[in-house]
Amino acid sequence: MGKVNMGRVSNKVAIVTGAAAGLGAAIATMLAREGARVVLTDLDQKRGSLVADQIVGAGGEAMFLEHEVSDERRWLEVVDKTLGQFGKLDVLVNNAGVQFVKRISDTTLEDWRRLFQVNVEGVFLGTRTAMSAMRQNGSGSIINLSSTMDRVVSVNDAAYCASKAAVTHFTKAAALDGATDGNRIRVNSIHPGLIETPMVEREILDLARLRGDVNTDAVRAKWDALCPLGMGKPEDIAYGALYLASDESKLVTGSELVIDGGHLLKR
Ligand SMILES: NC(=O)c1ccc[n+]([C@@H]2O[C@H](COP(=O)([O-])OP(=O)(O)OC[C@H]3O[C@@H](n4cnc5c(N)ncnc54)[C@H](O)[C@@H]3O)[C@@H](O)[C@H]2O)c1
Repeated sequence: MGKVNMGRVSNKVAIVTGAAAGLGAAIATMLAREGARVVLTDLDQKRGSLVADQIVGAGGEAMFLEHEVSDERRWLEVVDKTLGQFGKLDVLVNNAGVQFVKRISDTTLEDWRRLFQVNVEGVFLGTRTAMSAMRQNGSGSIINLSSTMDRVVSVNDAAYCASKAAVTHFTKAAALDGATDGNRIRVNSIHPGLIETPMVEREILDLARLRGDVNTDAVRAKWDALCPLGMGKPEDIAYGALYLASDESKLVTGSELVIDGGHLLKR
């Protein structure tokens, strides 16, 4: 008798960007645990390969590709290599993102453009490239990492907030596009609140420094209190991505999955 595979995304092939750390690493690991063959991509080759090796070590199927998500040509190579290795593409998680802590008056045009290149152009390029591969099967699931900061603003995060609002709205237009011509390519956004990852650790440190303090406890406590259920763990987001990647969500498109411990309740 063949192996019985009960994974929630068995037989699916997924690409996860920004998979070397934080949410991307957790999402890639979760999808692999639930039976998907996963292509992890990131700028950080060393840590990305390590995560892929850990997945393989635990019995999963994964490979790592170095990838700058704002590089149009590299996107074609990443999708080509995925099709070459695994034969198809079912899921893309546009997770890679960057953030910085600066008031508008301190934000340079280069700062702004770089953030939009990664957070917005990267999502556009990934969606466009994946959609053409997914049209070969007529189905797929694209999951974009937006944020609760697409609607809650902070004085130190104008560029980031604007970029995430763009991701949310783009996701809905892409969802319409993915449902044309008989295709069922679903496109949804996930909106994490405050989740303990390297990005958030850096932000907490930057905010503490801005207050002239190297001790991060006060900022951390304030942030924890912003969410009625406290800050989250990467796996909290990975479970959401798993649902959207699986056929359990086959009627869900253009939707916003908020996973925020109640962050938005207190705005
Ligand atoms: N952590 C949170 O609380 C939170 C909240 C809301 C939204 N998000 C979003 O979730 C996503 C993941 O966040 P995280 O907290 O895990 O971040 P992180 O900084 O901890 O990890 C991001 C990963 O993306 C990679 N990366 C950065 N720029 C890249 C590029 N140009 N090309 C390819 N890879 C690149 C980094 O090397 C890193 O491995 C981001 O889009 C972020 O905006 C996070």
